[in-house]
Amino acid sequence: MKVLISDSLSEEGLEILRQAGLEVIYKPGLSPEELKQEISEVEGLIIRSGTKVTKEIIASAKKLKVIGRAGTGLDNVDIPSANERGIVVMNVPGGNTLSAAEHTLALLFAMARKIPQANASVRKGLWERKKFMGVELNGKVLGIIGLGRIGNIVAERALCLKMQVLAYDPFVTPDHASKKGIELVSLDELYKRADFITIHTPLTKETHHLLNKEAFAKMKKGVYIINCARGGIIDEEALHEAILLGKVAGAALDVFEKEPVSVDHPLLKLDQVIATPHLGASTVEAQKVVAVEIAKQVVDFLLSGIVRNA
Ligand code: NAD
Ligand code: MLT
Repeated sequence: MKVLISDSLSEEGLEILRQAGLEVIYKPGLSPEELKQEISEVEGLIIRSGTKVTKEIIASAKKLKVIGRAGTGLDNVDIPSANERGIVVMNVPGGNTLSAAEHTLALLFAMARKIPQANASVRKGLWERKKFMGVELNGKVLGIIGLGRIGNIVAERALCLKMQVLAYDPFVTPDHASKKGIELVSLDELYKRADFITIHTPLTKETHHLLNKEAFAKMKKGVYIINCARGGIIDEEALHEAILLGKVAGAALDVFEKEPVSVDHPLLKLDQVIATPHLGASTVEAQKVVAVEIAKQVVDFLLSGIVRNA
């Protein structure tokens, strides 16, 4: 049986597939047209966030039995279309949690102290000490939207930094949060009180453009925003406007509505914005875990019919 891997995957995962006797077709970066061709003859597909497994792609898959996501988010897979065709979709939910949380904190520090902007300035031969005045995190209010796996780790770490942590998550109980020193609040309350807001929800119909013009209007003047979850949760036009109005003092974005983001994107023209190219899970450790785990899951399913994390 053949397994197509259309995004980058650590060697350890490829080796597990080969050892199990599966033929590995390793082709990261295929165009949708190329993917349609390649997918037609394989039983398994392994992806990260780069490959969009649309209805059309699934329609081209003649033998496909399983789609394995080496990571968490499944918003790039048309699951109803896969289900209709009896294709199992599985992921590795916890494998990159810590890395994504640490990247969130890296963005938090980098934004608060304007590190990317200062680094670029020093490299231009400048020594602009006044220009890059930062803010302390100590005592500031961090508002976490989505208190799941990543949100919880970010909260724990932020409490160690002596930040006050608020969270909004309709599926978490106040008791569960308060035991960890987190105050569970309504979304409006979070907007009203937070100095920094970080998003850790999946992208769903409910969270699409959750941070829109109305939401920014409810926030504190000078709030900082971090999105290390999914593009599309923030309305990018509304964020752009909120920065120009001075409502939002800074934004740190690891994800964009359309990836790769265009260099002409209006947000990238603003000094207040720092960006990384969807690097939340990009650590040696996380990539090894997700590759090994998804490879084992795909092998177990294709060779023994065992289903995990579907
Ligand atoms: P999770 O499922 O553990 O947590 C998500 C939380 O969001 C849950 O507690 C859920 O109750 C909450 N939630 C759902 N709908 C909500 C809503 N409307 N309002 C508020 N909260 C809501 O997920 P996770 O593993 O913590 O991942 C969080 C996000 O981070 C996902 O979008 C995932 O795809 C993304 N992610 C990004 C990277 C990256 O590279 N940047 C890496 C890993 C995960
Ligand atoms: C995920 O949801 O796991 C992330 O987007 C990370 C990734 O795909 O590499």
